[in-house]
Amino acid sequence: MANKFYITTPIFYPNANLHMGHAYTITICDIVARFNRLQGKDVHFLTGSDENTIKVVKAATEAGKTPLQFTDMVVDNFKRLFKDLDISYDQFIRTSDKEIHWPGAIMLWNKLVESGDIYKKKYKGLYCPGCEEFKKEKELVNGKCPLHNLIPEEIEEENYFFKLSKYQDFLKEKINSDELSIEPATRKKEVLSFLSEPLEDVSFSRAVKGESWGIPIPNDPSQVMYVWCDALSNYISAIGYGRDEETFKKFWPADYHVIGKDILRFHAVFWPAMLHSAGLELPKKIFVHGMITSGGRKMSKTLGNVIDPYELMNEYGAESMRYFLAREISTTEDGDMTKESFKDAYNANLANGLGNLVSRIMKMAETNLDAPVLIEEAKIYPKISYSSRFDMFDIQKAIDDVWEYIKSIDSDIQIGKPFKLVKEDKQKGKEMIEQFVKELYIVAQGLEPFMPKTSLEIKRLIKENKSPEQPLFLRKI
Ligand code: MSP
Repeated sequence: MANKFYITTPIFYPNANLHMGHAYTITICDIVARFNRLQGKDVHFLTGSDENTIKVVKAATEAGKTPLQFTDMVVDNFKRLFKDLDISYDQFIRTSDKEIHWPGAIMLWNKLVESGDIYKKKYKGLYCPGCEEFKKEKELVNGKCPLHNLIPEEIEEENYFFKLSKYQDFLKEKINSDELSIEPATRKKEVLSFLSEPLEDVSFSRAVKGESWGIPIPNDPSQVMYVWCDALSNYISAIGYGRDEETFKKFWPADYHVIGKDILRFHAVFWPAMLHSAGLELPKKIFVHGMITSGGRKMSKTLGNVIDPYELMNEYGAESMRYFLAREISTTEDGDMTKESFKDAYNANLANGLGNLVSRIMKMAETNLDAPVLIEEAKIYPKISYSSRFDMFDIQKAIDDVWEYIKSIDSDIQIGKPFKLVKEDKQKGKEMIEQFVKELYIVAQGLEPFMPKTSLEIKRLIKENKSPEQPLFLRKI
C-alpha cells in the first residue's frame, strides 16, 4: 500500500522505569509519526515491552513478585509516561502476550527451521546480561563489558543455533545497495565494517532453568527462545504475522525501525537475516540515533547515571521536554544532557523565543483588531518547508527551521514596528498586525509534530483573538 507508513521503536525492557534515553527514542519516533499523519499517510506507530529476559526475572525476584506481576506494573508506568509525553502510538505490544505476540514469534521460528537454518550445538561463552548477548574476549575491557561495566557470566549449555553465517554476502549486498537503508551513513559504514569479518552463527535459545519465562521452542519446551530472537519478531507479530495475514500485508515491510546505536547489530544483521531465511521482505530503513550521555557516559540503568523524565517534566512540562529532545539533542550524534542545559534552553528558546513572540503578537492583536484573523489553513500549509528534513530523518534541523522562522518574525517586528504604526496609521497598523498573526499561525502549524499541545494553544488564541492568560512558558530562575 503506497500510502501507509509503518514506524517502530525498539521494545523497552520492563526491568525498571524508563529514563531520558528511552524517552528520546520514542519522542523522535512520535514526531516522525505525527508528521506523516499530517501528510495524510496511514500511519501505524508501534512500541512495546521486551519482557522475556533474564533482567526481568531478576528484577521481579528482587521485588518479591512474579515476572508477570512485575511487568504489569512497569508496563503501566511506561504507558503513563507515554501518555504524559503525548506519544501518539497506535499499538503497544508485550512479548509476554500469548495471543498477539507468540503466534508470530513461533511461526517465524518454524520458518527458520523449515529453511534448515536452526541446529543444536553445545556452547560455552561469556554472556553479558546487560546486552543480552555473548561477548568475545576481545570485546571486553579489563574482563568487563564496556557498555555495562559488568563481568559477563560464563554459560555452558546446549542451545539451538541460527545459521547467521550463511547470510553474510546477502546482508552485505542489501546494505551496500541501500535496499536495506541504514541511516546515517556512518552507521551503514559501521555495519559494513562488521560484516567484513566472518560472521558467526548465533545461539537462539536458552535452557529452561527453574520456572519457565519466555517462549518455549516448538517441540522442545526444555528451551525458550533467546530474547533477541523473540524480541525482533515483535515488529511482524504486532501487525498480524502468524494470525492476521491481511493487516500484516498492509503494513509490512516497515518504513522505519528507529533504534539507538547500541542495538544496531541486532537490527542490521540478525533481523534481516532472520527475515530472509523466513522468506519475508526486509524493512526499508533503519534509523540509528546517538546516545544521551550524562557525565560523558551513556545514560543507563546499569551505570546508575539516569535522569528520570518526570524530574524535568514536573517542573517544565511535557512540551518543553519534547522541544528539548528534538532540538537540543543531535539526532545522529551522542549528546550530553544536564538539568542546567535543560533550563538554559528552556529560558532562551521557550520562555523568551517562542513564548515572548506569542505574547507580543497576540497582545497587539487583542488590543487593536476588532475580530479574530480569519485563517485559510489550506492556503498556507505547509509553509515551513521541512519535508526534506523529515525525508532524511533530521528532526533537529526540522525544528531548527521552525525557530529560524520565529527569529525572522521577531526581526520583522523590530523593523516594521507595528505597535508604532498602529498609532500613526490605524488601518495600515492593523493590516500589519493581521499579517503577523498569520505568520504566527504558520509557526503553530510548523510546531504541530513537535509540540502538539502548544500548537493547538496558539491556534486557539488566534481563533479567539486573545493574548495568553499567562505566559505559555514561564521564565525559570
Ligand atoms: N529490548 C531491547 C530492544 C529490543 S528491539 C527488538 C532494548 N531495550 S532498552 O530498553 O534497553 O532500550 C530501548 C531503546 O532505548 C534503544 O533504542 C536504546 O538505544 C535506547 N536507549 C537506551 N539508553 C539510551 C540513551 N542513554 N540514550 C539514547 N537512547 C537510549 O535495547
